[in-house]
Amino acid sequence: MKGKCQLGVTPHIRNSENDTGESPRLHPVRLRKILESDLPILFEHQQEPEGNRLAVFPARGRAAFMAHWHKIMADRKVMVRTILYQGQVAGYVMRFPWHGKQEVGYWIGKAFWGQGVATGALSQFLRHCKTRPLHAGVANQNLASRRVLEKCGFRTIGEEPEETVYRLE
Ligand SMILES: CC(C)(COP(=O)(O)OP(=O)(O)OC[C@H]1O[C@@H](n2cnc3c(N)ncnc32)[C@H](O)[C@@H]1OP(=O)(O)O)[C@@H](O)C(=O)NCCC(=O)NCCS
Repeated sequence: MKGKCQLGVTPHIRNSENDTGESPRLHPVRLRKILESDLPILFEHQQEPEGNRLAVFPARGRAAFMAHWHKIMADRKVMVRTILYQGQVAGYVMRFPWHGKQEVGYWIGKAFWGQGVATGALSQFLRHCKTRPLHAGVANQNLASRRVLEKCGFRTIGEEPEETVYRLE
């Protein structure tokens, strides 16, 4: 259904297969609803200077981070899922409204980079979140994120001096 995301089922509570039809034993990347207990881990991820440089996004202090995430978690227009990699909290993926469009965003802890976590998480998210079109704005030098979007079917629709805009139809 257009404009409605349906990632309500937590794949890990099923024994045989998850929402993607794949065995959770074979797929190390899984999504589940975000828990309050994830926030300290996500806070550490967004403190990592390498991640801030890549995303061109400054780290928030703890109080600002917690306030921001409590707002996100309470906002029914935002769909956010925690990414698990081999059972560990590896990051998050979300869809949120931004200037009249629906955008996606994600952040992976540095310890998990380069193992297909973002690509696996975003592609699972997109199978359940049926909202289209979806947009993403990426810092031009964030080649890893650009590659993730391209592998998940997003196409460039605009290049600005600092960021490239992607869209998924
Ligand atoms: C960008 C980010 C999400 C990537 O996560 P990840 O789990 O390492 O991504 P994946 O392993 O799924 O895929 C990364 C892809 O980028 C490629 N890549 C990585 N660094 C690259 C570089 N410097 N140049 C070109 N490609 C690069 C990888 O080779 C891989 O592509 P491949 O599968 O074709 O080989 C992660 O680094 C991150 O969270 N960064 C901080 C926050 C951020 O940038 N969020 C996105 C904001 S738009």
